[in-house]
This record gives sequence, C-alpha cells and structure tokens, in this order.
Amino acid sequence: MTFSRILGTGGFLPEKVLTNSDLEQMVDTTDAWIRERTGIRQRHIARDGETCVDLAEAAARRALDAAGLTANDIDLIIVATTTPEQTFPSSACLLQHRLDIHGCPAFDIQAVCTGFIYALSVADKFIRTGSAQRVLVVGAETLSRIIDWTDRVTCVLFGDGAGAVVLGAADEPGIISSHLHADGAYRSLLQVPAGIGNGYTGSPYMEMKGNEVFRVAVTTLGRIVDETLEANGMERSDIDWLVPHQANMRIIQATARKLDLDMEQVVVTVEDHGNTSAASIPLAFDRAVRDGRIQRGQTVLMEAFGGGFTWGSVLLRY
Ligand code: COA
Repeated sequence: MTFSRILGTGGFLPEKVLTNSDLEQMVDTTDAWIRERTGIRQRHIARDGETCVDLAEAAARRALDAAGLTANDIDLIIVATTTPEQTFPSSACLLQHRLDIHGCPAFDIQAVCTGFIYALSVADKFIRTGSAQRVLVVGAETLSRIIDWTDRVTCVLFGDGAGAVVLGAADEPGIISSHLHADGAYRSLLQVPAGIGNGYTGSPYMEMKGNEVFRVAVTTLGRIVDETLEANGMERSDIDWLVPHQANMRIIQATARKLDLDMEQVVVTVEDHGNTSAASIPLAFDRAVRDGRIQRGQTVLMEAFGGGFTWGSVLLRY
C-alpha cells in the first residue's frame, strides 16, 4: 500500500504588521477587547499589489527547500484559497507558472478556513491511488482584501499569509486519516454575498454573525475530534500535538479541553497572525516544525472550521 507523508514545510507572512493599537485608530475598539475576546495581538497585511500567489510562491519555495526537492519534482499542485489573485486561471496555475513547471495538474480548492484540510485530504487521496508522487499543497490568503475596514466586528479578526507542505509517497503513514464535512444551510452566518451574476449589489465585503459562528464552531470541532479518534480506535492521550485552525483563542482552548490536552501541546499562532483562513494551519505547523516542537514520529491532529460551513480534520504521523 502507498501512503503519503509530509516531506517539508514552509510559511510566509507579509512584512507589514497591523497591531491592535493601530486598529484603535481605525475603528471603535480597544486592544484589551480584542485580546480578551480573540487572543489576537497583531496580524500581517499584504502590501498594495501583493497577491495570494506572491505569498503562495514564497511559502512553496521554502517548503520545497525543506523537503530537499526542486519544483520539477512536483507532479500536482493544489492551492487552497478564498482570495485568489484572479477569478481565473486558478492560483494553482499561476503558482505553477511562477515555479516554471509545466504540464502537471494544478487546481484550487475553495473551502474557506477549512481549505487546507480539504487540500491535504485530496492530495493524500491522489498519492494513495498512485495518481501523484509529490504534491505541493498550499494555503494562501489575502483576507485583508475582502474585509470592511470600517466594521469592527470583522476587521480585528483576520490577516494575510501563506503556508505550504510538500507531500510525498511513502510505505507507511504519514497521513492516517482525514475527515471532511460541509453544510451549506449555514451560508448566511459567514459569507461574502457578492458573486458573479447573482444580482447582489450590496457591500463587497465579508459579513459574519460572530457569536452564532462561535457557538456552532465549538460544538462542531468537538464532534470532529471525537469522529477522528473513533475512526482510528485512538484515545485522546495518543495525540501529541493539536494544530488547530487559528480563528480565536477561546475556540482553540475549547477544543484543547475536549482533547484533555495541555495548552503546551497546542500550536497557537493566532496572537501574531490573526485568522489567515486557509493559511493558518500550514503556517502554525511550519512554525512548530521549524522551532523543533513537532518531531518526526509524533502524532498530530489538525482541525478546522469555516464558511460554508465547512469543517474537517487530518490525523497524521509526522
Ligand atoms: N471592539 C469592541 N467591541 C466590539 C468589537 C470590537 N472589535 N466587535 C464587537 N464588539 C461589540 C459588539 O458590538 C457588542 O456590543 P453590544 O453589546 O453593545 O451590542 C459586544 O462587543 C459583544 O458582541 P458579541 O458579538 O456578542 O461578542 P463576542 O463575545 O461574541 O465576540 C467575536 C465577538 C467575533 C470575537 C466572537 O463572536 C468570535 O470570535 N466569533 C467567531 C468568529 C470567527 O472565528 N469567525 C471565523 C470562523 S473561521
């Protein structure tokens, strides 16, 4: 049997940092409110003209370096993004061009904050079925472009960035299992209503019913954790690391409690990055791999929840 395992990781954040005190000058908010309700201190924001593909390219090159591979070794590119550089071609095709590789399949996945989990799961299936050997999986976002910077409810939460992994075929897992879900009935709680030809003429920015999203996120993430452990006959104590989607510190803490995990076993970047949607898990994973916390052979649970709603998890042995 063929499995997939992570060969290398990379991350990239735009240079510009927006702190909570910067936001105090822009909307009616305070550093104390933002920290207490979300845990966020600062977020990175793409400069004018810096696109999701710019961020994706930088993260991808770092992941390729870490894997000891070159772009020509890649035979599939998947980019998870909700903020693509263009409507089409896909950001994956634009990234392929930047990397100067030709012919391999390349496509985007749109599952908002669960996008990286979806992309990793799809890449794993390509490798398990022998359709690909080495896959570049990227989560890249410029959320700042779909935020209303006069809306204090949303503008304090999000940031820009990209994270990437190179996934390769292996004799042993690697990725142990992945679990994907969606329910479009929740669309109105978290959305950008503008689209192509849908007749909508209102604000082009994100709308969110924050406390309803919060409530559903906490219970749904609790369920996905149970589902993942049960599917693999594992106990909570079998998990070495939780790498959650970084939406809100209180949501992360609730999932850690559900798993009986000490916060020392949870990779948290939300203070420094805010919610970078599809980029948040690969950015957090990359940070913990590079600083030596996550070691080869350890068991890692990744989980995410986002617009759609979409939610899912990936359990892996690093
Ligand atoms: N600064 C100061 N006050 C703010 C504020 C801000 N940035 N944003 C909202 N408020 C105010 C509200 O207007 C409200 O005031 P009111 O009581 O006078 O009406 C008050 O704070 C409480 O609002 P509420 O929405 O109940 O706060 P909350 O405790 O639910 O926290 C969120 C708000 C957005 C931080 C929280 O709901 C959350 O994190 N939700 C999940 C969002 C998320 O993660 N989305 C992405 C999922 S992938």
